[in-house]
Amino acid sequence: MKVDVLLGLQWGDEGKGKIVDVLTPKYDIIARFQGGPNAGHTLEFEGIKHVLHTIPSGIFRDGVMNLVGNGVVIDPVIFQGELDKLEPFNIDYKSRLVISKKAHLILPSHRLLDAASEQAKGKNKIGSTLKGIGPTYMDKTGRNGLRVGDIFSPNFKAKYDALVEKHKSMLERYPEFKFDLSETEGTWMDAINRLRELTAVDSEQYINDAIKAGKKILAEGAQGTMLDIDFGTYPFVTSSNTVTAGTCTGLGVAPTRIGDVIGIFKAYCTRVGSGPFPTELEDEVGERIRKEGFEFGATTGRPRRCGWVDIPALKYAIMVNGASELSMMKADVLDNFETIRACTHYMIDGERYDYFPYDVTDMEVVPVYEDIEGWNCDTTKLTSFDEAPDALKSYVKYLEQKLEVPITVVSVGPDRTQTLENKH
Ligand code: GDP
Ligand code: IMO
Ligand code: MG
Repeated sequence: MKVDVLLGLQWGDEGKGKIVDVLTPKYDIIARFQGGPNAGHTLEFEGIKHVLHTIPSGIFRDGVMNLVGNGVVIDPVIFQGELDKLEPFNIDYKSRLVISKKAHLILPSHRLLDAASEQAKGKNKIGSTLKGIGPTYMDKTGRNGLRVGDIFSPNFKAKYDALVEKHKSMLERYPEFKFDLSETEGTWMDAINRLRELTAVDSEQYINDAIKAGKKILAEGAQGTMLDIDFGTYPFVTSSNTVTAGTCTGLGVAPTRIGDVIGIFKAYCTRVGSGPFPTELEDEVGERIRKEGFEFGATTGRPRRCGWVDIPALKYAIMVNGASELSMMKADVLDNFETIRACTHYMIDGERYDYFPYDVTDMEVVPVYEDIEGWNCDTTKLTSFDEAPDALKSYVKYLEQKLEVPITVVSVGPDRTQTLENKH
């Protein structure tokens, strides 16, 4: 059996949580392979909205295992909070969830370093979610990190103290940054005790045994391709590989074991935090998309920047991921737009660019648009794509032609049921 992958093709928040939840009945295991509590994945069903940060989006379905892979970074306090939120729904998470011993831990001092670094950057700040993601991955690659497996070691406290000492000396570089670790440390240690009650596994072994046993596995990405540490709009990115290759390193799955790659994008585009966004609309149209799409961050509540769909950026994302099929999300948000626009290419210094260029930060990138007729009707109650208005069908066909990958799912609302299959 091969491992299918589902990931974001834009700057995150494409609707990954929703589609993973919709697809979960087809799978035995849902596995997160990177990122951490910077992610906010929303699932909606039976009138209730759930937001997950670290826990894979398969947790609500019976008979499905959820794996937090080695590529993920875990804040035990946030993780505990997520588990507590599952309690009222009688989700037996202890039997449905396993965690990699090799996943790295976010310490309270990682969060402080994140905040101090952002504060020092001033107007050049990344717009981080301030969850300690960057400093934790830095300790991972710097070979200083603490991992889930360490919490079972008799030397855990000593390892923790040594790392905190290092962080304190790093924080001295930011004399204007005031902090008090005493309160957060106690809460963090309590959360570590609760983490010990869960099942920690050698996840690369676990997943490869499952592959061998013929289990169906879906890898769930966090963030989006344009936030990838290598391929995103660096330095305004996150600190992990969000692309398909991240599945291999973040789960221990060999490249030859990767199956379908489902790329998710919105019918328009959003970004939260700083950094270039060629099709951003800083006008009343952008404001309208934000309002209709309720574009506010699931993790931080920050308003998301909004703009039209960006075909060169999507083509680039499809290329680096090897996306084999696409899901187009939030089509309903454009229900009341007379005209929709799609960016077909950019002009930089009078030159045409059909692909995503190296430098979009300091260069003036002028997006060139094609106007597309809107459908001007309510799509949220559709139950099949066949019944969709012709203008929506044409928009999907237009994008398929440009992107050269089939759009197999069109989403018309946040609920599980508002998902249309586009049969080819
Ligand atoms: P993720 O990080 O990729 O899982 O996405 P988020 O959960 O951060 O953001 C997507 C938001 O859009 C959530 O509030 C979803 O409930 C919502 N959503 C998902 N699909 C649709 C859709 O087709 N239509 C509308 N209107 N909302 C959607
Ligand atoms: P999901 O999985 C959208 C953005 C932040 C910031 C940059 C770096 O819900 O799609 P970090 O906290 O990683 O240091 O922030 O990346 N960012 C996201 N934007 N969705 C996310 O996750 C994001 N995770 C990080 O806003 O610009
Ligand atoms: Mg999100």
